[in-house]
Amino acid sequence: MFPNALTAAVGIESPVVQAPMAGGATTPELVAAVSNAGGLGSYAAATLSPAAMAEGMARVRGLTDRPFGVNLFVLDTPNPTRTELAAAQARLAPYRAALGLEPEAAVPERFCESNRAQIEALIELAPPVASFTFGVLDAATVARLHDAGSFVVGTATTVAEALAWEACGADAVCMQGAEAGGHRGTFLGDFEQSSIGLMALLPQAVAALDVPVIAAGGIMDGRGIAASLLLGAQAAQLGTAFLCCPESGIHAAWKAAILEAGDDSTRLTRVFSGRHARGIVNAFMDELRDDEAAVPAYPVQNALTGELRRAATAQGRTDFMSLWAGQGAGLARELPAAELVGVLEEELRVALAGAG
Ligand SMILES: Cc1cc2nc3c(=O)[nH]c(=O)nc-3n(C[C@H](O)[C@H](O)[C@H](O)COP(=O)(O)O)c2cc1C
Repeated sequence: MFPNALTAAVGIESPVVQAPMAGGATTPELVAAVSNAGGLGSYAAATLSPAAMAEGMARVRGLTDRPFGVNLFVLDTPNPTRTELAAAQARLAPYRAALGLEPEAAVPERFCESNRAQIEALIELAPPVASFTFGVLDAATVARLHDAGSFVVGTATTVAEALAWEACGADAVCMQGAEAGGHRGTFLGDFEQSSIGLMALLPQAVAALDVPVIAAGGIMDGRGIAASLLLGAQAAQLGTAFLCCPESGIHAAWKAAILEAGDDSTRLTRVFSGRHARGIVNAFMDELRDDEAAVPAYPVQNALTGELRRAATAQGRTDFMSLWAGQGAGLARELPAAELVGVLEEELRVALAGAG
């Protein structure tokens, strides 16, 4: 359906990409259901050890023989100061108390998995599509992914970032508009200047790039996919739209918050993780608003709030959970993933026919 260079190169039938969503949303069942329905399911591996990556990919491979993607972050090794850590701990103490946790989070031995080890594991595991966000790879690593047989997709929030991915050999670039749920992929420019609405960003990226473009941010239905294709994208990557599927691994209270959300329910914040991300506004985001600039950068703040967010989730406390969602959350539907892909395709067909 609507074949183009990207769908042909990846080997998918429809231009629908289910976004990789770290933190448990993109279960192997969700990924496989989307791929089996003719789209591209994407497995988020950014928080996984190499062993867990291998296990998750084996589960996906056991559920589908269609192409699928695996996604990692590109990260530098963090090195926070003791003072910065102490201030961050103090800021979180009241929230930990409210959840019945010890006042101070234990400072982890490391703040995230070794990014280099994850990338080496990905090259070894050779998924059909390897996608990345938060940074850019070097050309040698992209060449090794190609040698392994992976189609490489980089995430960009500006034309300059997209050109950086093209220069290192990426096969396609996912342009992430400011509407997008979850973390911003920005890695080159000023964060605010790089928060560009998809309708403005997409045609400028398409004009600047030779490689195919995937559109992301606020796309919730076939009309949004059609609009992306009309603006020059060759596929649309939807995250929030898939969060309420039964196969999605997020907590029921998070799904309910999305289903209740409206157009103005979300905001960008860095208080949960130390990197700007879009989520449904709650008490934690509101009360720490003055500390936005002060919290340590990702992944340090993310690690320090980890136990707190897990406890909040276990207790169903949406006031302290990171309720990542895009600006289109108000359009979310609670459909099985394969059915949702079918509905999106039909809506796309109708929208493109209507557009002549
Ligand atoms: C809960 C959640 C987690 C996300 N995690 C990742 C991730 O691990 N890797 C990534 O490249 N993008 C991640 N994203 C961003 C998506 O790839 C995509 O840009 C975004 O979902 C598109 O906007 P939408 O949610 O409005 O559809 C995440 C988004 C959400 C909502």
